[in-house]
Amino acid sequence: MPDKFLKRTCTCGELRKKDVGKEIVLNGWVDNWRDHGGVRFIDLRDRYGITQVVFDMSRDAETHGMAKELRREFVLAAKGVVENRPGDMVNKKLPTGEIEVHAAEVQILNESKVTPFSITDEGEISEDLRLKWRYLDLRRPSMLKNLTLRHKCYQTIRRYFDRHGFLEIETPMLMKSTPEGARDYLVPSRVFPGSFYALPQSPQTYKQILMVAGVDKYIQIVRCFRDEDLRADRQPEFTQVDMEMSFVEEEDIFNIIDGMFIDLFKDVLEVQLPSPVRRITYKEAMNTYGTDKPDLRWDMPIVNISETVKGSEFKVFGSAVESGGSVCGITLNDGAGTSRKVVDDLTGFAREAGAKGLVTLKVGEEGLQGPVAKFLSDDITHGIVKAMNAEKGDMLFIVADSKKTVLNVLGSLRLELIKRFDIPAKEEFSMIWITEFPLFEYDEESGHYMATHHPFTSPVLDDMNLLKTDPGKVRSKAYDIVLNGYELGSGSIRIHDRKIQEKIFDSLNLDRKTAQKKFGFLLDAFEYGAPPHGGIALGLDRIVMLLAGEQSIREVIAFPKTNKAFCPMVETPSEVDKKQLDELGIITLKTKKP
Ligand code: AMO
Ligand code: AMP
Repeated sequence: MPDKFLKRTCTCGELRKKDVGKEIVLNGWVDNWRDHGGVRFIDLRDRYGITQVVFDMSRDAETHGMAKELRREFVLAAKGVVENRPGDMVNKKLPTGEIEVHAAEVQILNESKVTPFSITDEGEISEDLRLKWRYLDLRRPSMLKNLTLRHKCYQTIRRYFDRHGFLEIETPMLMKSTPEGARDYLVPSRVFPGSFYALPQSPQTYKQILMVAGVDKYIQIVRCFRDEDLRADRQPEFTQVDMEMSFVEEEDIFNIIDGMFIDLFKDVLEVQLPSPVRRITYKEAMNTYGTDKPDLRWDMPIVNISETVKGSEFKVFGSAVESGGSVCGITLNDGAGTSRKVVDDLTGFAREAGAKGLVTLKVGEEGLQGPVAKFLSDDITHGIVKAMNAEKGDMLFIVADSKKTVLNVLGSLRLELIKRFDIPAKEEFSMIWITEFPLFEYDEESGHYMATHHPFTSPVLDDMNLLKTDPGKVRSKAYDIVLNGYELGSGSIRIHDRKIQEKIFDSLNLDRKTAQKKFGFLLDAFEYGAPPHGGIALGLDRIVMLLAGEQSIREVIAFPKTNKAFCPMVETPSEVDKKQLDELGIITLKTKKP
């Protein structure tokens, strides 16, 4: 490469018809090339687009000769004049497709080995290869587009919170274990061998302490670390938009977050979200959609017909209700034509999800049809049709069991029906708040109640009397925000009163000593005038994934890990020198190479 290279005067994405006649310089990568007689066409690519550069033997033999040496992914500088493409050569798919640049001077700035896959958005490339050569993968236009979109999200979010008076404050990465409940990533201390920092699962404790400090409104776009089982929407390190506010109730958090999402969708996608974002309680979400993260781009509610079928001589229904269980169903509009085979598949699906069986009924001219129909009285038949809002030509899917099983099965079946029958969505984005989560969840394994959100979440004060008698029924001031079936964020109004906090620790079987050891610093802080406060953390990777229309958060993270928490590009985790371990006072008893 020459000492002084031809520096670009414009990018590969910006030249248009109005630029014809200008002399310009482009820098970029060779995306592709084609030969037509004595003319070689090179598509030159950078982050902004592709421009066709022409090397014409008859006009400039020297550059044409050089062009012959060019291979894909060579880095090039080309100087020349912008010209109109001949009418039949216009490429309507490219924004620069009406022009081309005739190369009068060329420099090869760097060469490239043959890449392990071609740098194009067409065709499938295995994820292993993509992650190993991530820098080549990121060179693809779709990936650069995702990174650009992510950048826009950061900017909009920062601007929004700044406008609303939030302070961006960094909290430590080397901290003490947090209460989020996943496994910690630990960092050994050299100064105190045998002691460890934990990387933050979230800045939860710090942000609450910042409220005690009088910060009032805190925001941080922050990396969090959780050693948990990974899947498409989970990474060992991920990014939260973490916020906390003082002197607020749930309503204030909903309003500020609604506003943020409205700005974000407008700025990034030019989509107007409905305002305010809809809210339903946890109980309603579970009863109507069988999940706490319902995808409400479709209606298809679960309908409880226990009262209707009570006393039915069809044993499956009758005895389920009698023994305290439930009978619920879903209506598939225009589903009566569903084939035997598909019904069998769906029955198999329901069984796999935990049902003992699946009753399917077609809605015909004369009421309901199907093997079970003859066991249902006229009254019950009419009752079912009415309750399930069914019309001729529909198909009903009904499950009887304990309420928990019924809702769980129908929640999954609802999504399966939507997928299998390709039911069109009502809208592209459906955002919803889920409120009043139960404060505790019963953990079968330990036989104890656990905090559904985390132990600092405030109970609904009206339910405090149930703490001792029926802890499972205590509602909390915790909420989630859900988009298209994904939990985007969770938060709560916190306990700021030490006495209530101690009662909750008691219910969680967390004795005072352990609580003091784990969270003493926070409890101590609460003794010095902690204001009422609350907040939320949003999963930024999931937000960007949905905005980008991607199926996995790995598509919107520059350098993600595999689902074994491994990075094939830098090959980490990896062994370290014995000297490093000695310094830390660490002996490894078990080893396994990634
Ligand atoms: P929570 O644990 O629910 O709450 O996390 C908040 C949001 O972070 C995202 N998220 C993840 N994203 C990718 N990979 C992961 N492994 C992962 N884990 C969580 C989700 C989730 O909704 N401190 C509380 C918040 C609060 O109370 O203010 C907290 O961390 O989108
Ligand atoms: P059986 O009485 O087991 O022969 O079942 C009669 C019909 O009811 C079959 O179609 C089963 O799939 C269905 N069925 C059985 N148990 C249940 C259940 N718990 N919920 C819904 N359908 C069931």
